Amino acid sequence: MNNPDEKKKFVREKFSSISADYDFLNTLLSFNIDRYWRWVTTRMLGAYKDGTVLDLCAGTLPLSLELTRQMPNRQVLAVDFCEDMLLAGWKSMADNGRKARIMPVCGDGEKIPARSESCWGITVAFGVRNLANTQDGLNEMHRVLKNGGKLLILEFSRPRNPIVKPFYNFYLNKILPKLAGLVSGDKEAYEYLASSIAKFYEPAELLTMMEKAGFKKPWRRPLTFGIVTIYVGEK
Ligand SMILES: C[S@@+](CC[C@H](N)C(=O)[O-])C[C@H]1O[C@@H](n2cnc3c(N)ncnc32)[C@H](O)[C@@H]1O
Repeated sequence: MNNPDEKKKFVREKFSSISADYDFLNTLLSFNIDRYWRWVTTRMLGAYKDGTVLDLCAGTLPLSLELTRQMPNRQVLAVDFCEDMLLAGWKSMADNGRKARIMPVCGDGEKIPARSESCWGITVAFGVRNLANTQDGLNEMHRVLKNGGKLLILEFSRPRNPIVKPFYNFYLNKILPKLAGLVSGDKEAYEYLASSIAKFYEPAELLTMMEKAGFKKPWRRPLTFGIVTIYVGEK
Protein backbone atom coordinates (compact mmCIF):
# COMPACT_ATOMS: atom_id res chain seq x y z
CA MET A 1 0.00 0.00 0.00
CA ASN A 2 2.08 2.90 -1.27
CA ASN A 3 -0.83 5.20 -1.93
CA PRO A 4 -1.76 7.16 1.26
CA ASP A 5 -5.47 7.30 0.37
CA GLU A 6 -5.53 3.54 -0.13
CA LYS A 7 -3.87 3.01 3.24
CA LYS A 8 -6.39 5.31 4.96
CA LYS A 9 -9.32 3.46 3.37
CA PHE A 10 -7.86 0.05 4.28
CA VAL A 11 -7.07 1.06 7.89
CA ARG A 12 -10.49 2.62 8.45
CA GLU A 13 -12.26 -0.45 7.06
CA LYS A 14 -10.16 -2.87 9.09
CA PHE A 15 -10.78 -1.04 12.37
CA SER A 16 -14.44 -0.74 11.53
CA SER A 17 -14.70 -4.49 11.01
CA ILE A 18 -13.03 -5.37 14.35
CA SER A 19 -14.51 -2.50 16.41
CA ALA A 20 -16.97 -4.69 18.36
CA ASP A 21 -14.24 -7.10 19.50
CA TYR A 22 -11.32 -4.64 19.75
CA ASP A 23 -11.25 -4.18 23.55
CA PHE A 24 -11.73 -7.86 24.33
CA LEU A 25 -9.01 -8.87 21.86
CA ASN A 26 -6.59 -6.27 23.21
CA THR A 27 -6.94 -7.71 26.70
CA LEU A 28 -6.67 -11.29 25.47
CA LEU A 29 -3.78 -10.85 23.04
CA SER A 30 -1.65 -8.66 25.29
CA PHE A 31 -2.41 -10.68 28.45
CA ASN A 32 -3.85 -7.41 29.82
CA ILE A 33 -0.44 -5.66 29.72
CA ASP A 34 -1.88 -3.01 27.39
CA ARG A 35 -3.63 -1.49 30.40
CA TYR A 36 -0.27 -1.05 32.15
CA TRP A 37 1.22 0.57 29.02
CA ARG A 38 -1.62 3.12 28.89
CA TRP A 39 -1.33 3.70 32.65
CA VAL A 40 2.39 4.54 32.32
CA THR A 41 1.75 6.81 29.32
CA THR A 42 -0.90 8.72 31.24
CA ARG A 43 1.33 8.99 34.33
CA MET A 44 4.04 10.52 32.19
CA LEU A 45 1.62 13.30 31.23
CA GLY A 46 0.80 13.79 34.91
CA ALA A 47 2.19 17.28 35.43
CA TYR A 48 -0.18 18.79 32.89
CA LYS A 49 -3.28 19.28 35.03
CA ASP A 50 -5.40 21.87 33.29
CA GLY A 51 -7.02 22.35 29.94
CA THR A 52 -7.80 19.92 27.18
CA VAL A 53 -5.77 16.86 26.33
CA LEU A 54 -6.09 15.55 22.79
CA ASP A 55 -6.23 11.75 22.57
CA LEU A 56 -5.46 11.15 18.92
CA CYS A 57 -6.38 7.89 17.15
CA ALA A 58 -8.50 7.33 20.26
CA GLY A 59 -10.30 4.24 18.92
CA THR A 60 -12.61 2.71 21.53
CA LEU A 61 -11.40 5.33 24.03
CA PRO A 62 -9.35 3.20 26.50
CA LEU A 63 -6.64 5.86 26.84
CA SER A 64 -9.22 8.67 27.05
CA LEU A 65 -10.75 6.80 29.99
CA GLU A 66 -7.39 6.41 31.72
CA LEU A 67 -6.65 10.11 31.12
CA THR A 68 -9.89 11.12 32.87
CA ARG A 69 -9.41 8.53 35.64
CA GLN A 70 -5.98 9.81 36.65
CA MET A 71 -6.95 13.50 36.64
CA PRO A 72 -10.45 14.40 37.94
CA ASN A 73 -10.70 17.77 36.14
CA ARG A 74 -9.19 16.76 32.84
CA GLN A 75 -11.16 17.24 29.60
CA VAL A 76 -10.29 14.97 26.68
CA LEU A 77 -10.86 15.59 23.01
CA ALA A 78 -10.84 12.10 21.49
CA VAL A 79 -10.23 12.13 17.73
CA ASP A 80 -10.38 9.12 15.42
CA PHE A 81 -11.32 8.76 11.76
CA CYS A 82 -13.18 5.48 12.31
CA GLU A 83 -16.66 6.29 13.60
CA ASP A 84 -17.39 2.64 14.47
CA MET A 85 -14.41 2.51 16.86
CA LEU A 86 -15.52 5.68 18.66
CA LEU A 87 -19.12 4.44 18.82
CA ALA A 88 -18.13 1.02 20.19
CA GLY A 89 -16.17 2.69 22.99
CA TRP A 90 -18.83 5.32 23.68
CA LYS A 91 -21.70 2.80 23.90
CA SER A 92 -19.86 0.49 26.29
CA MET A 93 -18.72 3.32 28.60
CA ALA A 94 -20.38 3.72 31.99
CA ASP A 95 -22.49 6.87 32.11
CA ASN A 96 -20.55 8.64 34.83
CA GLY A 97 -18.60 11.86 35.32
CA ARG A 98 -15.71 10.58 33.28
CA LYS A 99 -17.86 10.08 30.20
CA ALA A 100 -18.99 13.70 30.50
CA ARG A 101 -15.36 14.84 30.23
CA ILE A 102 -14.64 12.98 26.99
CA MET A 103 -15.64 14.50 23.69
CA PRO A 104 -15.34 12.06 20.78
CA VAL A 105 -14.85 13.64 17.38
CA CYS A 106 -14.57 11.89 14.04
CA GLY A 107 -11.59 13.37 12.22
CA ASP A 108 -8.27 12.74 10.52
CA GLY A 109 -5.05 12.73 12.54
CA GLU A 110 -3.24 14.26 9.58
CA LYS A 111 -5.67 17.19 9.57
CA ILE A 112 -6.60 17.47 13.23
CA PRO A 113 -9.97 19.19 13.80
CA ALA A 114 -8.64 21.52 16.52
CA ARG A 115 -7.30 25.07 16.68
CA SER A 116 -3.55 25.70 16.70
CA GLU A 117 -2.06 25.76 20.21
CA SER A 118 -5.31 24.58 21.82
CA CYS A 119 -4.16 21.54 23.83
CA TRP A 120 -1.81 21.16 26.80
CA GLY A 121 -1.14 17.55 26.09
CA ILE A 122 -1.47 15.05 23.26
CA THR A 123 -1.49 11.28 23.60
CA VAL A 124 -1.46 8.74 20.77
CA ALA A 125 -1.65 5.06 21.67
CA PHE A 126 -1.00 2.57 18.87
CA GLY A 127 -2.11 5.14 16.31
CA VAL A 128 1.01 6.72 14.79
CA ARG A 129 1.94 3.45 13.04
CA ASN A 130 -1.42 3.51 11.30
CA LEU A 131 -1.13 7.01 9.86
CA ALA A 132 -0.71 7.15 6.09
CA ASN A 133 1.85 9.95 6.43
CA THR A 134 3.60 9.92 9.80
CA GLN A 135 5.42 13.22 9.29
CA ASP A 136 2.18 15.05 8.39
CA GLY A 137 0.59 13.67 11.56
CA LEU A 138 3.54 14.77 13.74
CA ASN A 139 3.49 18.24 12.16
CA GLU A 140 -0.21 18.52 12.96
CA MET A 141 0.36 17.41 16.58
CA HIS A 142 2.97 20.13 16.92
CA ARG A 143 0.58 22.73 15.49
CA VAL A 144 -2.24 21.84 17.91
CA LEU A 145 -0.03 21.72 21.03
CA LYS A 146 0.38 24.84 23.21
CA ASN A 147 3.87 26.13 23.95
CA GLY A 148 5.09 24.21 27.00
CA GLY A 149 2.81 21.28 26.18
CA LYS A 150 3.76 17.64 25.97
CA LEU A 151 3.23 14.87 23.39
CA LEU A 152 3.22 11.21 24.45
CA ILE A 153 3.25 8.53 21.76
CA LEU A 154 2.78 4.90 22.80
CA GLU A 155 3.66 2.57 19.96
CA PHE A 156 4.79 -0.98 19.24
CA SER A 157 8.49 -1.41 18.65
CA ARG A 158 10.60 -4.49 17.92
CA PRO A 159 12.28 -6.19 20.91
CA ARG A 160 16.03 -6.73 20.46
CA ASN A 161 16.62 -9.15 23.30
CA PRO A 162 17.87 -12.35 21.55
CA ILE A 163 15.86 -14.59 23.89
CA VAL A 164 12.61 -12.63 23.74
CA LYS A 165 12.74 -11.77 20.00
CA PRO A 166 12.09 -15.24 18.44
CA PHE A 167 9.24 -16.02 20.85
CA TYR A 168 7.68 -12.62 20.28
CA ASN A 169 7.96 -12.89 16.48
CA PHE A 170 6.44 -16.37 16.49
CA TYR A 171 3.56 -15.19 18.65
CA LEU A 172 2.97 -12.02 16.60
CA ASN A 173 3.14 -13.64 13.16
CA LYS A 174 1.76 -17.13 13.73
CA ILE A 175 -0.44 -17.30 16.81
CA LEU A 176 -1.97 -13.84 17.15
CA PRO A 177 -3.54 -13.51 13.64
CA LYS A 178 -5.11 -16.98 13.91
CA LEU A 179 -6.52 -16.42 17.37
CA ALA A 180 -7.72 -12.89 16.63
CA GLY A 181 -9.11 -14.05 13.26
CA LEU A 182 -11.21 -16.69 15.02
CA VAL A 183 -12.68 -14.18 17.48
CA SER A 184 -13.15 -11.18 15.16
CA GLY A 185 -13.69 -13.00 11.86
CA ASP A 186 -11.05 -10.74 10.27
CA LYS A 187 -7.66 -12.45 10.23
CA GLU A 188 -6.37 -9.90 7.69
CA ALA A 189 -6.71 -7.09 10.25
CA TYR A 190 -4.29 -8.86 12.58
CA GLU A 191 -1.92 -9.85 9.76
CA TYR A 192 -1.82 -6.11 9.06
CA LEU A 193 -0.96 -5.52 12.74
CA ALA A 194 2.08 -7.82 12.48
CA SER A 195 3.28 -6.41 9.17
CA SER A 196 2.78 -2.79 10.24
CA ILE A 197 4.92 -3.42 13.34
CA ALA A 198 7.62 -5.04 11.19
CA LYS A 199 7.64 -2.14 8.72
CA PHE A 200 7.41 0.72 11.22
CA TYR A 201 10.28 3.18 11.76
CA GLU A 202 13.16 2.43 14.10
CA PRO A 203 12.78 4.37 17.38
CA ALA A 204 15.69 6.67 16.44
CA GLU A 205 14.01 7.49 13.11
CA LEU A 206 10.75 8.41 14.80
CA LEU A 207 12.61 10.68 17.22
CA THR A 208 14.26 12.43 14.26
CA MET A 209 10.84 12.93 12.66
CA MET A 210 9.49 14.38 15.92
CA GLU A 211 12.41 16.78 16.00
CA LYS A 212 11.72 17.73 12.38
CA ALA A 213 8.11 18.50 13.35
CA GLY A 214 9.47 20.95 15.92
CA PHE A 215 9.49 18.98 19.19
CA LYS A 216 12.35 19.88 21.51
CA LYS A 217 14.83 17.13 22.38
CA PRO A 218 12.40 14.20 22.01
CA TRP A 219 13.29 11.07 23.95
CA ARG A 220 11.95 7.56 24.43
CA ARG A 221 11.27 5.01 27.10
CA PRO A 222 11.05 1.33 26.06
CA LEU A 223 8.72 -0.92 28.08
CA THR A 224 8.34 -4.72 28.37
CA PHE A 225 11.57 -5.73 26.58
CA GLY A 226 11.00 -3.01 23.98
CA ILE A 227 7.74 -4.58 22.75
CA VAL A 228 6.39 -1.04 23.06
CA THR A 229 8.07 2.36 23.35
CA ILE A 230 6.80 5.63 24.74
CA TYR A 231 8.08 8.67 22.83
CA VAL A 232 8.02 12.04 24.56
CA GLY A 233 8.18 15.42 22.86
CA GLU A 234 7.80 18.92 24.27
CA LYS A 235 6.97 22.17 22.54
C1 LIG B 1 -4.81 0.36 17.23
S1 LIG B 1 -6.11 1.53 17.35
C2 LIG B 1 -5.70 2.36 18.85
C3 LIG B 1 -6.90 2.78 19.63
C4 LIG B 1 -6.62 3.33 21.03
N1 LIG B 1 -5.79 4.52 20.99
C5 LIG B 1 -5.98 2.31 21.94
O1 LIG B 1 -5.15 2.69 22.77
O2 LIG B 1 -6.34 1.13 21.89
C6 LIG B 1 -5.62 2.70 16.12
C7 LIG B 1 -6.70 3.72 15.83
O3 LIG B 1 -6.12 4.72 14.97
C8 LIG B 1 -7.14 5.19 14.12
N2 LIG B 1 -6.51 5.89 12.99
C9 LIG B 1 -5.64 5.40 12.08
N3 LIG B 1 -5.29 6.35 11.20
C10 LIG B 1 -5.95 7.48 11.57
C11 LIG B 1 -5.99 8.80 11.05
N4 LIG B 1 -5.32 9.16 9.96
N5 LIG B 1 -6.75 9.70 11.70
C12 LIG B 1 -7.47 9.37 12.79
N6 LIG B 1 -7.48 8.13 13.32
C13 LIG B 1 -6.72 7.19 12.72
C14 LIG B 1 -7.91 3.93 13.74
O4 LIG B 1 -9.19 4.22 13.27
C15 LIG B 1 -7.90 3.18 15.08
O5 LIG B 1 -9.08 3.43 15.82
